[in-house]
Amino acid sequence: LSKGLFIKTYGCQMNAYDSARIAAAMATMDYVPVDHPRDASLIVLNTCHIREKAAEKLYSELGRLRVLKTPNAAPQSPVLIVVAGCVAQAEQDEMFDRAPFVDVVVGPQAIHRLPDLVRHAQTVKRPILDTDFPADSKFQSLPDVSQPTGTGVAFITVQEGCDKFCSFCVVPYTRGAEFSRGAAEVIAEARCMADLGAREIVLLGQNVNAYHGRTDDGREWGLARLIEAIAEIKGIDRIRYTTSHPIDMDEALIRAHGDVPKLMPFVHLPVQSGSNRILKAMNRRHTADDYRRLADRMRRHRSDIAIGSDFIVGYPGETDDDFAETLRLVDEVGFAQAYSFKYSARPGTPADLDEQIEENVKNERLTILQSSLDTHQHSFNRACVGRRLDVLFDRHGRKAHQLLGRTPYMQAVHADGSTNLLGTIHPVAIVAAAVNSLSGRISQDSTP
Ligand code: SAH
Ligand code: SF4
Ligand code: F3S
Repeated sequence: LSKGLFIKTYGCQMNAYDSARIAAAMATMDYVPVDHPRDASLIVLNTCHIREKAAEKLYSELGRLRVLKTPNAAPQSPVLIVVAGCVAQAEQDEMFDRAPFVDVVVGPQAIHRLPDLVRHAQTVKRPILDTDFPADSKFQSLPDVSQPTGTGVAFITVQEGCDKFCSFCVVPYTRGAEFSRGAAEVIAEARCMADLGAREIVLLGQNVNAYHGRTDDGREWGLARLIEAIAEIKGIDRIRYTTSHPIDMDEALIRAHGDVPKLMPFVHLPVQSGSNRILKAMNRRHTADDYRRLADRMRRHRSDIAIGSDFIVGYPGETDDDFAETLRLVDEVGFAQAYSFKYSARPGTPADLDEQIEENVKNERLTILQSSLDTHQHSFNRACVGRRLDVLFDRHGRKAHQLLGRTPYMQAVHADGSTNLLGTIHPVAIVAAAVNSLSGRISQDSTP
């Protein structure tokens, strides 16, 4: 008899990847995915801890789910509740003090043990905690994922954890030390995804360009070498990687953007700030000029490369002059797309102790920065009008007969087309550009 599994995923794409692996692991115990918690006998919240109030929001969500735990509240009772991910790792057994009805708390590196933990929770009827960083890697012990590839896009985590300790960030604490998967294992997974219909592979890691995986004969491969190997897989037409750190952008990877046609001309390269003083306080280990030079070098090898980024405004001690430096960098580099966040103090990180910026100042800076980023994004998009770009259609649009997809530069495109085009790549004539998307017409003649 199959049982319902409801998974809610927060945070980054690596959590999304983990959720897919959790679903595959639980399928071995006959759990099948359902769309609503009331239809589930197992509920998994895969959490993110990157910004403030993550834990508070989780506890209110848990409060709402609690009713499902009252006897006979749900036809499939008893319902088990699992908290996974980065809040689980950060809260540890404190979670049981605040939400004693939670059955299992499991950290990001122990998800492969979830079937055992669930079995155990069912028999002992006591809360179970597993936030170890086990010696047996989760990647080796999880069953193969059969990700839904109707979208044509498959995500593969190749690197996890971080040793950089930027002073604002919780990732080194929740995800643990930097670790790269073996090259053969990654290539096998990519082949399997290609067989399932993936046209695009997205390599994931908190610092994916720090990848340094071993081959079976003991050599060490960087990300560029791994990308070259994946480019040889039949059926794969596009390769992307995310997220990168500027100091790990090595010559081989920059060259690969010129040499490997399947490597898409878009790099998400968070800079965080344009002020050297703030970058230093953040422990980012590069200056604003280093970043400018890096952008130039990438453009020398691939002139049309689009650069995306992340920014934090209102880092402790940030002055108006520091912020002005950030705006100057934005104008000089001309980002194709970027996320910006207000600094959010994270307990346990070094920056939490420094002089905090007032909320209204943060709000004001965020508005100014976002409007500048929007202007650049819009002009990047407008420059594509009149061009013909290859689009991988991965979703239905909001309107009838409308499909959504991505250009090589990661822009969202909508165009009219039939459902059978999903998961495939087609040339599209771009006719209009908004800040966040393009619209186009699928070309009849399919030679791009
Ligand atoms: N590994 C990546 C990004 C990790 S987190 C990198 O090295 O840049 C994703 C983004 O969240 C970060 O780039 C940063 O802009 C933002 N972020 C992380 N911690 C934050 C905090 N305490 N407050 C606000 N934004 C934060
Ligand atoms: Fe966090 Fe910095 Fe590591 Fe990125 S590089 S995950 S921002 S500590
Ligand atoms: Fe969030 Fe953890 Fe990812 S804190 S951003 S889910 S690594």
